Amino acid sequence: MPTKTIIEPFRIKSVEPIRWTTREQREELLRAAHYNLFLLPADDVLIDLLTDSGTGAMSTGQWAAIMQGDESYAGSRSFSRFRDSVQDIFGYQHVIPTHQGRAAERILFSVACKQGDIVPNNTHFDTTRANIEFLGAEAIDLPIAEASQPAKWHPFKGNMDVAALEALIARVGRERIPLVMLTITNNSGGGQPVSMENARAVSAVCRMHRIPLYFDACRFAENAWFIKLREQGYEHKTPKQIAQEMFALGDGCTMSAKKDGMANIGGFLCTNDGVLAAQEKDLLILTEGYPTYGGLAGRDLEAIAVGVQESLEEDYLRYRIASTAYLGDHVTKEGVPIVQPPGGHAIYLDARAFLPHVPLNEFPGVALAAELYLEGGIRSVEIGSLMFGKAAKWDLVRLAIPRRVYTQSHIDYVIEVILSVWKRREQIRGLHLTYEAPFLRHFTAYLEPVEVAKAVAYV
Ligand code: F0G
Repeated sequence: MPTKTIIEPFRIKSVEPIRWTTREQREELLRAAHYNLFLLPADDVLIDLLTDSGTGAMSTGQWAAIMQGDESYAGSRSFSRFRDSVQDIFGYQHVIPTHQGRAAERILFSVACKQGDIVPNNTHFDTTRANIEFLGAEAIDLPIAEASQPAKWHPFKGNMDVAALEALIARVGRERIPLVMLTITNNSGGGQPVSMENARAVSAVCRMHRIPLYFDACRFAENAWFIKLREQGYEHKTPKQIAQEMFALGDGCTMSAKKDGMANIGGFLCTNDGVLAAQEKDLLILTEGYPTYGGLAGRDLEAIAVGVQESLEEDYLRYRIASTAYLGDHVTKEGVPIVQPPGGHAIYLDARAFLPHVPLNEFPGVALAAELYLEGGIRSVEIGSLMFGKAAKWDLVRLAIPRRVYTQSHIDYVIEVILSVWKRREQIRGLHLTYEAPFLRHFTAYLEPVEVAKAVAYV
């Protein structure tokens, strides 16, 4: 690059106003939402970093393709374009469209898994784990040791522990492992990439034991860019070549097109196994739709066909990863504890280190997320004690960056808000639960601040 500043590689053609609120209004809104940001109306959020899923801005190319959508029930032209574009990158023989990633997961596991089976992954995303457990199978995370140390820098912190995989296979036997998964990038582990070397090693173990390897490919383009930046021998390859090389190491994938598919809805399931594909299509017809639309409109398939290609463009990826790193590096410089290094789609504040005076049963992550909303109207999400209960290994606040939506000045604003909360962190109080649902409680829980007298006692 000739200059230091990495600019947004697009012009803005259509704008969507965002709404300012006063601090007093936000205090009232937060009370009404029971201190749970999921319960806030989106109109009352200024910068929404709840998720990068389905929240991206589409390009002129995607909108133009949408107008070409063929809504035929069977054999639609849009399906052919979608399949060809997906195959060009992913290379698998069978491409099955689904309405989003978790539908692809449900169909894959329903067909491939049975009670008592074990599915290893670097780290399962919550819907992946839930779909496996729903079938009476066990989801096992095998991240490398560095992944459990938020402050530790490692270029490929998303890697799987290959020795642990071999030990697991030796212990339980290959018959109980219907497939191995690699999540690229590792969302639950901090948005961290998996190296080609690690994928190759995992693939070799799987092939030796004749176990299929599947990728959870949601953020495959970001993973490819990290490999280009950080792995020797890939600096001159294009992100597309890198993605193709990685997918060739596996036998199939699940994909949420709401991430690196650059679409607002959609997903797919790929496999090279013709017998499995036939069973998957039968199940697809039962709940999603005919195999040439799978629960999507023809226009959605068009948006994905263009989107998966755009996600691999170098100018886009350079800006995308630089923008997330810019946010992470600026707050790190002021001492704010985050998961290092900054991930692809998000940065994760380490709430236990940020608010050491808030005990875990008072939800430091939820308290910090509430504070970022109060301070600047920013919505983030807790990944910690509210989401996972006592099993939580950490309390993080994820600030996920929607694709092509926010500009550098928005990111500068987010940095300012985080730093002003950091300056008065000692005054931040914990919260306690007043209502919880029997499962997935973080979506609907009610909380309220602990009383001041009690809070002061442990500061
Ligand atoms: N796998 C990973 C790694 C994910 O991050 C997600 C979704 C899914 C699978 C499921 O895809 O939502 O299309 O059904 N992650 C979103 C998030 C929801 O906010 O991280 P989906």
